[in-house]
Amino acid sequence: MPPQTFARPARLHGQVPLLGDKSISHRALLFSALATGTTRVVGLSSGGDVASTSRCLAQLGVTIARDGEAVVVRGSRDWRSPDRDLDCGNSGTTMRLMLGALAGQPGLQARLVGDASLTRRPMRRVSEPLSRMGADIALSPAGTAPLTVRGRPLHGADLALAVASAQVKTAILLAGLRAQGPTRVAEPLPSRDHSERALRAMGAALQQVDGAWQIEPGELRPMGEWRIPGDPSSAAFAAVAALLHPNAELQVPQLCGNPTRLGWLRVLERMGGRCEAEDREPVAGEPTLCLRCRSSSLRATTVTAKEVPALIDEVPILAVAAAAAEGTTHFCEVGELRHKESDRLAETLALLKALGVEASSEGDDLVVCGRGAASHWSRAALAFDAGLDHRMAMSAAVAGLVGPAAVTVVDTQAIATSWPDFIPIFQGLAQS
Ligand code: S3P
Repeated sequence: MPPQTFARPARLHGQVPLLGDKSISHRALLFSALATGTTRVVGLSSGGDVASTSRCLAQLGVTIARDGEAVVVRGSRDWRSPDRDLDCGNSGTTMRLMLGALAGQPGLQARLVGDASLTRRPMRRVSEPLSRMGADIALSPAGTAPLTVRGRPLHGADLALAVASAQVKTAILLAGLRAQGPTRVAEPLPSRDHSERALRAMGAALQQVDGAWQIEPGELRPMGEWRIPGDPSSAAFAAVAALLHPNAELQVPQLCGNPTRLGWLRVLERMGGRCEAEDREPVAGEPTLCLRCRSSSLRATTVTAKEVPALIDEVPILAVAAAAAEGTTHFCEVGELRHKESDRLAETLALLKALGVEASSEGDDLVVCGRGAASHWSRAALAFDAGLDHRMAMSAAVAGLVGPAAVTVVDTQAIATSWPDFIPIFQGLAQS
C-alpha cells in the first residue's frame, strides 16, 4: 500500500459508521462453527483478522456462505484435518482461540502459522494451560508459532492465569466444552467477557464459582441470528480525534457498550473529554451505545493497573490523548503492550517522541508529559512506520488529523486488519 499523509482539516464533523466488533466477530464465527446447526451472523467485521478466522474454519470443513447482509455458518461438532497449514495472518485471536477449539478433537491434526508479527507473539500462555488439560501442542523453541496441535481427549483442570487474557480464557473454555469433568479458569483481573455471554446464551453450563469461571462439557446450540454491535476499539480513534481537534463534533451511532471494553471512554471522560453516551437497545446479549464527542481541553490522569484490561487495545490512542492534555499522565502496568501486534510500548514512545512530546517507560509503566493541546506538538512533518500494527498506524493517523504537523503513515496496509474503511471515512469527515 502507498504511504498516506494525514493533515489537520479546518473541521471534523459527521457520523462515524463502525464495522461489527472484531472480538465478537471472531467468536460468532468460531462458536457457531462448533454448534450443531445453522447461524446467521449479521454485521460481521470485514477486517483482515476476522477473514483469517473464516478462512481457517473453511479449511477445517465448516461451511460459511454469504447471504445478503448475513454470513451463514453451518456448524458441526467435529471438524476435519486441514490439508494445508492454517494461516492465522496477523490475528492472535484466531490462533489462540483456534487452539482451544482444536485441542479436544481426537484424530484432528493441524499446523497453525501467522505473519511476521504473529510469529513473534507468545503462545505458551495458551499452550501451557491447555497442556494441563491433556492437550498435545508443539511450539517453536521460543514458545511461538508455528504450532502443531494433535487433537486428544482432554480432562478438566483448575487453572489460574498469570495475565488477564480474554484470548487464553476463551481457549480454555472452548477446550473445557469437550473435556472430561469441569474446568475452572481464574484471571488476575477480569478481561472482556464476550465469550462468557455468548457461550451461556448458546446453552453452555458456565458459571462463576469463587471468582473463577467454571464450565462443564456439553454441546452448543446455535444462536439462530447473531447480530454484532459496532467495534468500540475503532470508536476510540474517532473519539480521540474529536476531542483533540479544535473544531470537531463526531457521532458514533452504534457501538458495543460492554463495560469490559469501555475503559478508554471512562478515562477520556475523567480527563475532561466532552463525550455523551446514550444507551441503545442491547444486541445479542451485548449492551450498545450512541456516542457523541466534541473538541475538548483535556487534563492528565492516572490509569490504574486495575483499569488496564478494559482498555489494553486503546493505550496507544489514549497516549496520544494524554500528549495533548495538561499535565503528566501515568499508565500503570501496561507491560502487556510489548506482546501485541508490535511492541506497542516502544512504538507509542517512538510516536510521541516524533510529535515532540516527552514520554518514557518506567518499568512496565508509561508516562506521558502532556503539552496542553495538540496544537503545541512539534510543527515538523513526520513519517511513521507502523509496520504490521493496525492500531499504531491509526494512532499516528489521528495525530496527523489533529496536530499542527502532517503525519505520513509509511504503510497503511495494516489498517485493514481491523478497519478497512478508516481512511475513506476520515476523508469524508474532514471539511475544509
Ligand atoms: C482479544 C483480547 C485481547 C485484545 C485482543 C483481542 C479478544 O488480547 O488485546 O485485541 O478478542 O479476546 P488478550 O486477551 O491476549 O489480552
